[in-house]
Amino acid sequence: MRIPFIAGNWKMNKTMAEARLFARDIKEMYLDTDVRAAIFAPYTQLLVLKEALKNTGIALGAQNVHYEMSGAYTGEISIPMLSELGVDYCLIGHSERRQYFGETDQTVNLKMKALLDSEIKPLVCVGEDLGQRESGQALALVEKQVRAAFDGIAAEKAVRATIAYEPIWAIGTGRTATPEQANEMCACIRGVLSSLYDEETADEIIIQYGGSVTPENATQIMNMEEIDGALVGGASLDPVKFMQIVDF
Ligand code: 13P
Repeated sequence: MRIPFIAGNWKMNKTMAEARLFARDIKEMYLDTDVRAAIFAPYTQLLVLKEALKNTGIALGAQNVHYEMSGAYTGEISIPMLSELGVDYCLIGHSERRQYFGETDQTVNLKMKALLDSEIKPLVCVGEDLGQRESGQALALVEKQVRAAFDGIAAEKAVRATIAYEPIWAIGTGRTATPEQANEMCACIRGVLSSLYDEETADEIIIQYGGSVTPENATQIMNMEEIDGALVGGASLDPVKFMQIVDF
């Protein structure tokens, strides 16, 4: 039984003061739900949110991490640093990091391995761009990204990871993939996991859809058989919208 998982990715948004306000508003919205939820915040908001989100049931995620535990990597953050803050999850391979900051399938794999050796659970993002979708390469490209991310990872560790399918053409554009397109890709990803491991392992791994998810389209997306959750960008900045999505 896969428990639905709604994650908010704040990207490079909100100050500490704004993060406190968000948490205060969230606390006023009581939700009786079994859905798992997390906020992936910029580094400077993590400590604030750890405290401010106490008793809300909302877990805490970082947006990136280095795969080495320490060393001469100016500007980077390590797993022990995030662990000390009580971070539960970490995003890896978001398309914006692949596009603008040189993240590759290889560094994604190194980060997966490092995180799976720690207490922090990885949430790995995959997805094609518009050109790849229109030229019919989307399935092959996403399969390659999934295979690379899980390369050399044993099944008992792999089940701790979450995958987010985020087609680049649907991110921040207001143009969502149709629920059928998203479902088809999530089914394809589960098939890849099944061939890498076995059906039981593949059935355990949470697969989210991300790309212009809003309170208006969340129910339809979450009702799809192969979609277990959502990775929400823009709409997660608003506490009311985020909680509406959590309460899909
Ligand atoms: P939007 O929901 O703003 O399209 O962003 C999606 C995303 O990239 C989440 O990681």
